[in-house]
Amino acid sequence: MNTFLQYNPTRLYFGEKQIQQIQAELGDQQRNVLVVYGGGSIKRNGVYEEALHQLHSINANVFELSGVEPNPRLTTVQKGVEICKQEHIDFLLAIGGGSVIDCTKAIAAGAMYDGNPWDLFTQVAPVENALPFGTVLTLAATGSEMNQVSVITNWDTHDKIGWSSPYVFPTFSILDPHYTKSVPLDQTIYGIVDSMSHALEHYFHRTDNTPMIDGFIESLLRTAIQNGPKLVENPDSFQYRETMMYISTTAFNGTLSNGTDGGDWATHRIEHALSAVYDIPHGGGLAILFPNWLEHVLEDDPSRVKQLAINVLGVSEEGKSDKDIAKEGAKALRQFWNNLGAPSRLADYNIDDTHFTDIIEKTFIKPGVGTYKEMDKDSVHDILRRSL
Ligand code: NZQ
Ligand code: ZN
Repeated sequence: MNTFLQYNPTRLYFGEKQIQQIQAELGDQQRNVLVVYGGGSIKRNGVYEEALHQLHSINANVFELSGVEPNPRLTTVQKGVEICKQEHIDFLLAIGGGSVIDCTKAIAAGAMYDGNPWDLFTQVAPVENALPFGTVLTLAATGSEMNQVSVITNWDTHDKIGWSSPYVFPTFSILDPHYTKSVPLDQTIYGIVDSMSHALEHYFHRTDNTPMIDGFIESLLRTAIQNGPKLVENPDSFQYRETMMYISTTAFNGTLSNGTDGGDWATHRIEHALSAVYDIPHGGGLAILFPNWLEHVLEDDPSRVKQLAINVLGVSEEGKSDKDIAKEGAKALRQFWNNLGAPSRLADYNIDDTHFTDIIEKTFIKPGVGTYKEMDKDSVHDILRRSL
């Protein structure tokens, strides 16, 4: 194992009626709170009303920024920064999925910076502070509710950038599985794919002697495989929503990289480039790309894909070569996601090879793509070609 520091300051309130904790979290002083949300799902499912009730009960001055897009945009971040500066906002409350939370993180950092917030995400300027914020999660997928990562799209340049800073861990996050019952089926499926992808990408590290964390990841993935189809069949089930919510938070809150080199996030880099060009849902892009990344990687070294195939995907060993076992694993994963209802080919989004050069360029917007297998432009092209 590598040396590691386990640090996560987010207070996580998990379970029914935990929204009441907002009072305890914020009630100690007079607050100017900016509530950030998306296209209105929180008004239809009642979460907005419940959250606002909490804020009014502590006499907070409430301001609002609505309309955060899925794949949140720099222009919306800039609007939020403007409100923070004008209204002397001292706390932000994100109510929504990963996009709303990521946008809130970007606003929180941007509000403490004098220039264009894009400088912070492109590392032109360091993030040196951020306003504090909490989250009320409504979609189980990204893990943003308990990590320091945010992904923002600059639609003028078609660049989608992931950035991170210890200043943008949420102060607290409320995770009530009831709030995810209204998530539409397609987004529920993308959430399952995204969470599993986070676990899978952590799994592809090259650190020795990591049986504890490898077993933990395998267990998380097997649980997702058992729970996912049941959830898709019974979207109103509290039980399956609860399990999914805990999976998605754990898959990307730092736990799964303890003692390892952190895993290989090449597929996320390619997906961010893909959705910067085509604005497709993140989980949909991953469902197409990740099995093809597995097939690309196993050509040189099938060992880890083979281990995944046997320990997670139920592939039998007898009489087969390592490569064949690994190939069956990649196929089984694609089939599992496809059976849930996820796409498996770029053609499912009417994407052909027209913009491959552009997508490849954008994948390398930051240097260093892939660690388990370092990618060059030809490797990314091979994965895209396999995905057609
Ligand atoms: O806009 P609203 O009305 O909120 O509707 C949203 C949106 O249309 C809807 N939704 C959310 N909760 C709902 C609901 N509809 C009904 N009932 C509910 N309870 O779902 C749609 C998608 O929401 P979004 O927040 O975009 O989805 P997700 O959580 O998957 O976030 C995706 C974004 O996160 C980034 C992705 O790249 C993408 O931009 N990621 C962030 C990460 C992080 N911060 O750690 C890591 C991930 O790998 C990912 O890259
Ligand atoms: Zn993801």
